[in-house]
Amino acid sequence: MPNDTEIRIAQLRNEINYHLYRYHTLDDPVISDYEYDQLFQELQRLETENPHLVTPDSPTQRVGAEPLSEFEKVIHPVPMTSLSNAFDDDDMRDWLKRIERLLPNGVSASDLEFVVEPKIDGLAVALTYESGSFAQGATRGNGRVGENVTANLRTVRNIPLRIPLRLEDEQPAPPEPPLRIEVRGEIYIGLADFEELNRRQAEKEDKLYANPRNTAAGSLRQLDSRVTAQRPLAFFAYQIGYIEGMSVASQWEALNLMRALGFPINPDVHKAQTLDEALVYIHTWMTRRNDLPYEADGAVVKINDFALQEHLGVVGNAPRWAIAYKFPAQEVTTKLLAIKTQVGRTGQITPYAELEPVNVSGVTVRNTSLHNFDDIARKDLREGDTVAVKRAGDVIPQVVRPVLEKRAPDSQPWQPPARCPACDAPLFFPEDEVAVFCVNAACPAQLVRRVEYFVSRAAMDIEGFGIKNAKLFVDKGFIKDIADVYYLNRDKLLALEGFKEKKVDNLFKGIEASKAQPLERVLTALGIRFVGREVSRLLLTHFDSLEAIAAADVETLEAIDGVGPRIAVSVYDWFRRPEHQAILAKLKDAGLNFVAARPSPIEKAQPLSGLTFVITGTLPGVTRSEAKAAIEAAGGKVTGSVTGKTSYLLIGENPGGSKFTKAQKLGTPQIDWLALQGMMRG
Ligand code: IVH
Repeated sequence: MPNDTEIRIAQLRNEINYHLYRYHTLDDPVISDYEYDQLFQELQRLETENPHLVTPDSPTQRVGAEPLSEFEKVIHPVPMTSLSNAFDDDDMRDWLKRIERLLPNGVSASDLEFVVEPKIDGLAVALTYESGSFAQGATRGNGRVGENVTANLRTVRNIPLRIPLRLEDEQPAPPEPPLRIEVRGEIYIGLADFEELNRRQAEKEDKLYANPRNTAAGSLRQLDSRVTAQRPLAFFAYQIGYIEGMSVASQWEALNLMRALGFPINPDVHKAQTLDEALVYIHTWMTRRNDLPYEADGAVVKINDFALQEHLGVVGNAPRWAIAYKFPAQEVTTKLLAIKTQVGRTGQITPYAELEPVNVSGVTVRNTSLHNFDDIARKDLREGDTVAVKRAGDVIPQVVRPVLEKRAPDSQPWQPPARCPACDAPLFFPEDEVAVFCVNAACPAQLVRRVEYFVSRAAMDIEGFGIKNAKLFVDKGFIKDIADVYYLNRDKLLALEGFKEKKVDNLFKGIEASKAQPLERVLTALGIRFVGREVSRLLLTHFDSLEAIAAADVETLEAIDGVGPRIAVSVYDWFRRPEHQAILAKLKDAGLNFVAARPSPIEKAQPLSGLTFVITGTLPGVTRSEAKAAIEAAGGKVTGSVTGKTSYLLIGENPGGSKFTKAQKLGTPQIDWLALQGMMRG
């Protein structure tokens, strides 16, 4: 028999859970905060006095627990798939046509029912309940294996710790809990909560969070759940992963069951009898997208009937029975503070916009490339203009046009600079190109970029070098051309701040090791315009030494399949310049490979060798581990975070902002899965 304390504790937990539900899930509290605090404090007191009565599903346990050293892995019993995308109504009708052909005999498209749900931009999680008690929560991870974030999810106020919620006098009585149920849904931060969070950060003069999605992701992956408890995470349930001891026949029933058990269900879900009806719904959401209390990047349309879902099945990594209708890129306006330029490795000058920081579909944009001078002139962008900015394909921010109605009367067209922003040499405007160049061979900004490229993973691959050292050594005058990488003075480096023995030793070790790199990399590292890894490889199928390439005339070079006049002239000119001859002599003296190694049948050049990728977001049709395996099979590498050594950021759906922002800052090129597949095919 439970004693009085046990009975009171059970009562308090029930009541507190109910009020949490009224407050966080229904947004309709029935008692004051003060009354709630009274109940909570009484429970806390009873539990402190009777520690043996504390259970993990008590509401007092939402404050977080001791930090973990790492997350355990969780294998999802039913894989968490992703969704294929549609971008307009035609894509949606095509989707319906595709599935129409696959329907069982006797079922036609007009028999189908659809459930339309907003697609919230957060992260998917799977919550397992055993006999009504929250037992485990996991992230989606790669869809097959996720991370155990139970302690963190317990702190999310609208995730029920016990189901169903039960008050003695409730009518009708809530359903019995299933033996086991896995509920899936999205963890997110609502817009108002996000603003409040940043207001508090600003008050503390702390760093502001960039966008709700990344903040939610970062909060959920905290090893210390007490930190997670401080973040305003929320949950919407949208799917039953599996259920035992109960049967459910459709998505609409599943949503209703989850709602009855006490899970938060998005109030905007809708059952549609036809695809056209679903589309009308989606269009109303699109137009009032900015009024939604959370960030939605689209709508999900699901075939309602589970038997039909089962019949249609999954192809690749996405079910045939569901599709995400992505909202078009959002356009926002902001101020174009200044148009600036930067100098690349080949001396090419690229303009970029400095913007008043603005949030475009969830990402804060400050700087963005303006491509070239012609583009600025064509759009007539002027400093001080209010401009429309959008994220192309929802990822790369673009300045679309000036808002002419808001232009200051005294505004002046932007004048491209006539001189290099780094070395003040006059710029060269080739007649047949939009590109503009600084042709000063001694321009320090170019030299920094050339050295950065020379040591990069795609070229000589010198561990521990990178742009910071390139800039420092150029500034100090230690490096006057790329060959000086091999003539650095140990004592001079040791005299620099922060350069301890160990660091300098490692740097020299990396430099020494790079001397063994094959000719293909040496040729790439020279940084000849239009001659990257691919073209280097092409050239070396016809020449077996650097000297042979240097001696070739334009016709000979052009005769190589895949080498056009542009490349041929660029190569020919490069080797004709005296300062380049001097660099070659120094590199040869340093002991670099100037002769091609005998091709070994095993070490056939692979399309991605020397390239390092970082993956962000969900890739279409493949899991991350599958993508990783494919990249590695093609000779590439996959790492977890963007650094100066990252060759490409592989961008999927819902890309993670931190990787993306870092890549933007470093100027890391971006690629999508389709383009990468092309690259892998060579
Ligand atoms: S269903 C069919 N429903 O979108 C199984 N997903 O691209 C796929 N998402 O990882 C999940 N709202 O993070 C589903 N109402 C919703 C959703 C939703 C957001 C996210 C989820 C998933 C991604 C799939």
